[in-house]
Amino acid sequence: MNGYLDESNFMMVEEGFTTRDLLENLLVELCQASDQQAFFVADLGDIVKKHLRFLKALPRVKPYFPVKCNDSEGVIRLLAELGAGFACTSKAEIARVQSIRVPADKIFYSSPCKQVAHIKYAASHGVQLMTFDNEVELSKVARSHPQARVLLGVAADSGPPALPGMMFGTTLKSCRHLLETAKEQAVEVVGISFHLGSRGLEPQTFAQAVAVAQLAFEMGTELGYQMHLLDIGGGFPGTEDTRARFEEIAAVINSALDLYFPDGCGVDIIARPGRYYVTSAFTFAASITAMDEVPAEQPGSDGGWDGGMVGWADPCARAPLSPLPAPLQRKNLAARGASYHPLHSSSLRGPPGHGEDCIADGLELPQLQVGDWLIFKDMGAYTIATSSLLGERPQPQITYAMSHVAWKAVQLFQGKPPQTEDDHETVCAPLSCGWEMAETLCATPVFAPASII
Ligand SMILES: Cc1ncc(COP(=O)(O)O)c(C=O)c1O
Repeated sequence: MNGYLDESNFMMVEEGFTTRDLLENLLVELCQASDQQAFFVADLGDIVKKHLRFLKALPRVKPYFPVKCNDSEGVIRLLAELGAGFACTSKAEIARVQSIRVPADKIFYSSPCKQVAHIKYAASHGVQLMTFDNEVELSKVARSHPQARVLLGVAADSGPPALPGMMFGTTLKSCRHLLETAKEQAVEVVGISFHLGSRGLEPQTFAQAVAVAQLAFEMGTELGYQMHLLDIGGGFPGTEDTRARFEEIAAVINSALDLYFPDGCGVDIIARPGRYYVTSAFTFAASITAMDEVPAEQPGSDGGWDGGMVGWADPCARAPLSPLPAPLQRKNLAARGASYHPLHSSSLRGPPGHGEDCIADGLELPQLQVGDWLIFKDMGAYTIATSSLLGERPQPQITYAMSHVAWKAVQLFQGKPPQTEDDHETVCAPLSCGWEMAETLCATPVFAPASII
């Protein structure tokens, strides 16, 4: 064991005891205490499963988890225990992972825009690996961190940026100039980085990006750099309902790596999978604290929608539920509503008094009551606000759970990927029953009847 995670960090659950069971137990306790505070239940076994799946699908790629995606204690400890690295975008995130004693060589300061003070903090705390994609960032690194080892960020996606002017990385045309400038400033460039965004990418986009990265590698090598690290970024799907499955994307990446960076070429590959690891592991429960019925829109009025209900969820829901989550199991709610109750066009809002904080509009929901609990699944990515962003607002509590078999797998695993197919079977086999349980937890039908409790 690596010593980051032990049995005091999570609730050990018996086989057959599901996240749903745990959630219901917690709700009973909260109701007895008349407590309406929102909370998360996190299935750490789901993350273990994702990690082994990652190593199997992308055997040459080392994952660096982006801390901004979910910096909760259980997630950080588990991933450190499994041997993952961490991609940090600020001093606070570096401090977060170093607070559990993650060594500096497992930390990648991956932000394309860094405060000088944060670069200095990285330097004084031994974090050397970072990125740059323009001259301003380069000179900040040159001045503040002479020991830095940097990756040049390239914009490898030929498509338009998600937001105008918000492109990650430099163009291939500017690479040579930036590499030459780095040489003049005595900055050690060790490789190339790209991040294609998280917009449900076509797998082929990764192949194009790897090809672009190889051209940039050649430029660096020509200029005399020891180029030995390629970072392929994040953007891998966290659930199964996406355009391309994770394994499909991985197959395309593996082919591109074999072509442009063949095994044995001396280049290590890393990635920054965020949502992939944590989305499906977290379930969120928030209660209705207030509600109002809105009359159907009269002809001639300029009302926004045609009548229904507005429900205000527990104040703690505000942080995790903004921006819009996927609506809670809409289909199942609709099914329940159709068989028992009429459905109402409904709007869910953050805390009363924050009317502009819209969680979801136009949901077809059965009649809700104050005190009803709404269950949101797949809530693990970009939903946990760091304490600094949350201000005075209390964090929703997170209850971590893991089955015996998943914990056994973590202990067997020891941070080392299975070496052979036989090893892989050994590590995975005992998990199968735990995983069946985990699959059941997250499968829609299990949660369906209890989406409103
Ligand atoms: C630069 C960068 N790298 C990696 C990630 C992780 O992306 P994802 O969670 O989609 O894997 C993000 C997410 O915003 C990012 O901005």
